Amino acid sequence: MNDSSKDIGLIGLAVMGQNLALNIADHGFQISVFNRTYSKTVDFLERNPSTPTLSGHESLNDFVSSLKKPCKIIIMVQAGKPTDLVIESLIPLLQKDDVIIDGGNAKWTDTIRRERKLSDHGIHFVGSGVSGGEEGARFGPSLMSGGSIDAWNQIKDIWLSISAKVDPSSGKPLGGAEPGKPVEGGVPCAAYIGTDGSGHYVKMVHNGIEYADMQMICEAYHMLSSLGGLSANQIGEIFKSWDEGILDSFLIEITGDILCQQDPRSGNPFVEVVLDAAGQKGTGKWTSVNALDMGVPAPTVAEAVFARCLSAVKEERAHASEILAGVPIRSLDCSVDHFVESIRDALYCSKICSYAQGFQLMREAQNEYSWKLNFGEIAQIWRGGCIIRAAFLQKITEAFERNSELPNLLLDEYFKECISTYQGNWREVVSLAVNSGIPCPTFSSALAYYDGYRNARLPQNLLQAQRDYFGAHTYERIDEPRGTFFHLDWLHPDRPESRIE
Ligand code: 6PG
Repeated sequence: MNDSSKDIGLIGLAVMGQNLALNIADHGFQISVFNRTYSKTVDFLERNPSTPTLSGHESLNDFVSSLKKPCKIIIMVQAGKPTDLVIESLIPLLQKDDVIIDGGNAKWTDTIRRERKLSDHGIHFVGSGVSGGEEGARFGPSLMSGGSIDAWNQIKDIWLSISAKVDPSSGKPLGGAEPGKPVEGGVPCAAYIGTDGSGHYVKMVHNGIEYADMQMICEAYHMLSSLGGLSANQIGEIFKSWDEGILDSFLIEITGDILCQQDPRSGNPFVEVVLDAAGQKGTGKWTSVNALDMGVPAPTVAEAVFARCLSAVKEERAHASEILAGVPIRSLDCSVDHFVESIRDALYCSKICSYAQGFQLMREAQNEYSWKLNFGEIAQIWRGGCIIRAAFLQKITEAFERNSELPNLLLDEYFKECISTYQGNWREVVSLAVNSGIPCPTFSSALAYYDGYRNARLPQNLLQAQRDYFGAHTYERIDEPRGTFFHLDWLHPDRPESRIE
């Protein structure tokens, strides 16, 4: 029935779209859904007969007509061209002040472009990161929205109600929602991030950090198995115990489950029958490319992407393994318990560094794109619902509460103390891995980042001299004010250097 009574519409009924639609419906909002292939809409409605707030339409026209004015439409289709095609098809059907919300993993620069284009038509565009996978979409995702404040005000009620919630005092996620029974109370894991592409940018950085977190966990598993001689099941139990402490997080929790899982086919540990060739959809790469573009050091995120790339050349590695020599695995010169504790410490220190890099990126991006980001709030909305949700994020919120202008998380008193306490074990673990030929690109790059950041003098004095030698690229001097550049005539180095104006 096209009575223009529905609160919101959703286009794209792949699993994320379906789950988000059901989540919205559970919260009492009237929602219309549309899918290019109508049979999918019919099938979805048939599978959810007891959700009266849900309705579907075969024609896009009818779908739009069913919505209250100004219309609010969420697009949950594949990022890239499919999103543009849906937007194109909607423009002629929409009016001034209507809102399109893109809930896909769009590139923030596409979101900026789309927002500009739609604003020429008087239509609002919200680029909203939606994190938490299928389960998050269904029971409470973390939502990072960018666009005009007017658009945010239009979607705010729905976004705040459907998002995950955290306990206001402890910051702990309030979970346990069941279909039709939304979580009551708590601080919503949804926020207005800023203008145009900021929401999608923050979601991208979330994913970059997700890549680093996942790779770190893999490195910990690799070392516990190869150096510690522990079985998948034993390592799974260790991860379960870590989930009770400072590493308490969704990714640690699911790793415990995965490692304790048996392959139903062979009866072997499930993880051991999975091929070691990683896939990726590109958000970690975007984060790293953007870090390079802005000149922000984010080596740990980049190493996590490269580790996936190296894993993907499986056949080439298998060939190389028959040719290239390594070194024997060292035996532990400490108890297994101490070794396990050292890996946990190394993982925590590396994690602090990769988050420091992610927040540095957002700090630089806000200057580049004239956003005003609230870093404490970003950490807070990542506390529940999303893939990187972790107890540790509360410490980041507290760090930015102590100092909203904190230049780097490493300088916060809590994180400074943590690294100072744990760095001995971190260094031991990295050196043991290096001396045993076990790759640990995120653990070691995080350590190099930490050591680089805390050194007042690095060897790039020599690099500047090299650049000046072969390319007259100039250098600054330690005994002259910053920003004053010199060049030495390297064919006649005894001559006085020239000051470059
Ligand atoms: C999330 C996830 C989600 C998706 C990743 C997977 O926040 O819910 O990040 O967006 O799982 O995009 O990315 P890869 O396929 O690149 O690992």
